[in-house]
Amino acid sequence: MFYRADQPHGLKHNPFKALVSPRPIGWVSTLGSDGTMNLAPFSYFNAITDFPPTVLFGCNGPHPEGDIKDTAANVRDTGEFVVNMVTAELKDQMNASSAHVGRTVSEFEKAGLTPLPSELVAAPRVKESPVNLECRLVQIIQLRSSSPKIVNNMVIGEVVGIHIDERIIKDGMIDMSVYRPLARLGYMDYTIVEETFSMDRPD
Ligand SMILES: Cc1cc2nc3c(=O)[nH]c(=O)nc-3n(C[C@H](O)[C@H](O)[C@H](O)COP(=O)(O)O)c2cc1C
Repeated sequence: MFYRADQPHGLKHNPFKALVSPRPIGWVSTLGSDGTMNLAPFSYFNAITDFPPTVLFGCNGPHPEGDIKDTAANVRDTGEFVVNMVTAELKDQMNASSAHVGRTVSEFEKAGLTPLPSELVAAPRVKESPVNLECRLVQIIQLRSSSPKIVNNMVIGEVVGIHIDERIIKDGMIDMSVYRPLARLGYMDYTIVEETFSMDRPD
């Protein structure tokens, strides 16, 4: 089948997210200018460069209170955020942190998570997550929106500090069988990275 992206696809549900999958989940913690700690998951997330390490995520959609999402507002106001990686064990806390709560309520508390101070940024990190990437804002780019109700913000951040739980390091490498990162598929589906294989690149 082929469909133009701006025309009806005729399927039961929009297949776009299921097609571009799996997507890692960036669990982004920020600090509001009033000191409220904020945490939310973003699956339009990935790493884009190594030197320096850089990540991006799409903070899209309407805020229920009519403004951009708290995460984008906090990153814009403070210029900092932390990406906490989500593992299989943290799936329920990650999901709980996606619920909309008022701007002055912290999702850390709602999801039963422990905020830890970061080394290089003021935004807190999630203690329960084995990987925390401390980031400084590079740029927020507002992308075209095809809906009057949706604002699409691409947030790009340079990773300036990386925390790794020693438990996921084996022989100097990340042991994926212990790490078990969670990733997002389409619809309401997820997957866990548990199986890997290696392949050499051609010269
Ligand atoms: C697994 C998962 C992935 C999500 N990915 C995104 C995303 O990529 N972009 C987005 O804008 N919202 C995404 N959301 C929804 C946000 O987490 C949700 O709107 C959240 O309340 C935003 O919080 P904030 O207003 O504190 O920033 C996702 C939710 C879940 C559960």
